[in-house]
Amino acid sequence: MKVFNDLADFSVDEISALLTLASRLDKHPEPEALRGKVLSLLFLSPSLRTLASFQAAMIRLGGGSFVISPDMSIHGLETRPGIVMDGVAAEHIREAVPVIASYGDAIGIRAFAERKSIEYDLAETEFHSMTSLIDKPWINMESAINHPCQSLADWKTMDDLKIPANGGKFVLSWAYHPKPLPLAVPCATLHMAAFRGMDVTVLRPAGFELPEAIMQKARAAAASSGGSIRETDDRSDAMEGAQVIYAKSWSSTKFYGDRNGDQNLRRELDHWCVDNPWFDDAAPDCRFMHCLPVRRGVVVSDRVLDGPRSVVIHEARNRMFAQMAVLHQMLGRKS
Ligand code: CP
Repeated sequence: MKVFNDLADFSVDEISALLTLASRLDKHPEPEALRGKVLSLLFLSPSLRTLASFQAAMIRLGGGSFVISPDMSIHGLETRPGIVMDGVAAEHIREAVPVIASYGDAIGIRAFAERKSIEYDLAETEFHSMTSLIDKPWINMESAINHPCQSLADWKTMDDLKIPANGGKFVLSWAYHPKPLPLAVPCATLHMAAFRGMDVTVLRPAGFELPEAIMQKARAAAASSGGSIRETDDRSDAMEGAQVIYAKSWSSTKFYGDRNGDQNLRRELDHWCVDNPWFDDAAPDCRFMHCLPVRRGVVVSDRVLDGPRSVVIHEARNRMFAQMAVLHQMLGRKS
């Protein structure tokens, strides 16, 4: 594997092989598998899980990693193309990325969306301007519109919990948050659940529809896997018989890049906080999923997050095993 950027780049059989490997590495560690290998980690956006789980994954496989982020005492990094660098930033990403990549055997990059133009973000313009500078294997650690590592871990979590793939009912629900958040997780999650063959409902208020290109991609994945996609703003209809609710806040797509428009729209939506009554018509063992970090009492109530439905820690732990599988396939000795 040279690139891990999008689950859509793989077949379902290839994803299954990665998940089998992730489960094997969970039960039977291979502390020599990546001996002497180095993973470069470039974080242009904040992280807890991705940062820690990639480092832990490399250590568990016998390799090592190093992290570069703007919070460290590095030269200020300029990301804009064609800029005259007479301001604060002393180094351009065009040099920094290939230099960082040259120290490792593979590189992971995280760079959130700019969130000014939806077309710009959907095209992953900034992310690909960086990956085009790399001559090593690379991993998307969350870009404007994708988070494949999260999705692989979430798929594993549903497999671990024996949540049905074909015929399983999955609700991806918008949730309240005081700020407009990126589209990466909802877009990746929608595609993942559809690709797994689930019957997926996107539950969101008006103005928060996911982009048509993302819906089309998910419909294609559902068609190939035997799943389905629908969209509604009716909570009780969406939740009827649900086996999973995956909550996430995201930016208004109607007012994308327009902070005031987005704020005006979400102001009345603070009741979109997942709580026990949401589960009234759900399957009795309906699970609550979230990628974390999550705001308690804003996105989800304490009693749901701390209760038996919540599998958020399981998801976060699976980040490490999913990424171990990716790194093993990318950097391990080929038998
Ligand atoms: N879910 C996730 O990617 O978490 P971090 O932002 O903490 O890495």
